[in-house]
Amino acid sequence: MSTTHNDNPGRGIDTRPAPDANGIIEEHPIDDPGIETHIERYADVDDKAGDRAARQVLFCFALVPLLALGFVISYFWPGFDRVIVDFGPIYSNGQHLAMGGFLGFAVLLIGVGAIQWSREIMHDAELVEERHPAVSSDEDRKAIMAEIDQGIEESGISRRKVLGTSLAGAIGVTVLAPLVMLLDAGPWPLPSRRRETIERTIWDAGTAAEPIYLVNDVTRTRIRAADMEIGQLINGEPENLWDYHGAAFQTEKAKAAIIIVRMDPNSIKVPDRRQDWHVGGILAYSKICTHVGCPISLWEQQTHHLLCPCHQSTFDLGDAGKVVFGPAARALPQLPITVDDEGYLIARGDFTVPVGPSYFERDLYPEDKGE
Ligand code: FES
Repeated sequence: MSTTHNDNPGRGIDTRPAPDANGIIEEHPIDDPGIETHIERYADVDDKAGDRAARQVLFCFALVPLLALGFVISYFWPGFDRVIVDFGPIYSNGQHLAMGGFLGFAVLLIGVGAIQWSREIMHDAELVEERHPAVSSDEDRKAIMAEIDQGIEESGISRRKVLGTSLAGAIGVTVLAPLVMLLDAGPWPLPSRRRETIERTIWDAGTAAEPIYLVNDVTRTRIRAADMEIGQLINGEPENLWDYHGAAFQTEKAKAAIIIVRMDPNSIKVPDRRQDWHVGGILAYSKICTHVGCPISLWEQQTHHLLCPCHQSTFDLGDAGKVVFGPAARALPQLPITVDDEGYLIARGDFTVPVGPSYFERDLYPEDKGE
């Protein structure tokens, strides 16, 4: 195998095979076109163009440290994680957007600089590697076919063809077994399926005649609004949860769990459309973190903040459950509540948005931004 360099400007290479000892050139079905005449780059023949290319590479690499610095500053910039960028299809935490942008451009510029370097500055030699036929010799092919024929003969399959057929059938059917197990991956998450499962909770079972009561999840007793003190937090469940058993009980509990808090109504912000979702400063929120679904009940009475112990997402229950810190991207869903004739807390219906962590098909709702 030989390698030919073509670094002589203006000269192409004739890669046709050399004549043999008899002066005969072996013919190919398609003429070998050789390689194109080498044309020198501007950067090689013009010093100014060469300097310009070097400056372009330098410019790309020089920007990278600045972008890396921007990345670090965005990480530490106080309050940046609370900035929400809402622009067309982009709805994101400003800090994440800035960090991703800085890092992405830094990597892009390293790549652009490296490409420009290799295209304009690195040595411009063209290499030709001649290939020889990869086919085996006739002797080798005959030997291999003889071995295969011998193997077939010794297996007895040529005399008892039914054995081969039954083996192929057995293997074919066995392959179906793991395919069937794919069905255990779960049903397709079609919109109708989602509406019946992860996008509803058993709070939706209430009617005007038979409302669902909020009950203490330990004592299972109903909660009277007048008995709650300002600053108090109660872990709650829907009273109908105990109609379920086994896996269904766990599934419904995981979605329907709530926390009920009482705050001074004069110290909280309630969006206009949620004015009748609370009872004199008593509000109910999903207990399931919107980040990756931990149950939350670390409550700071003075600040009205609810802290998730898993990754420190913090929600302001005095401001529609908005995220004030941490990786969660959506406000805590609020359960609209009221009281019955005797002053016990009842649900006005289900949550207005799916509870818990995000999933691929989930839509965004105004409530996710605390509206
Ligand atoms: S699950 Fe709550 S912050 Fe991650």
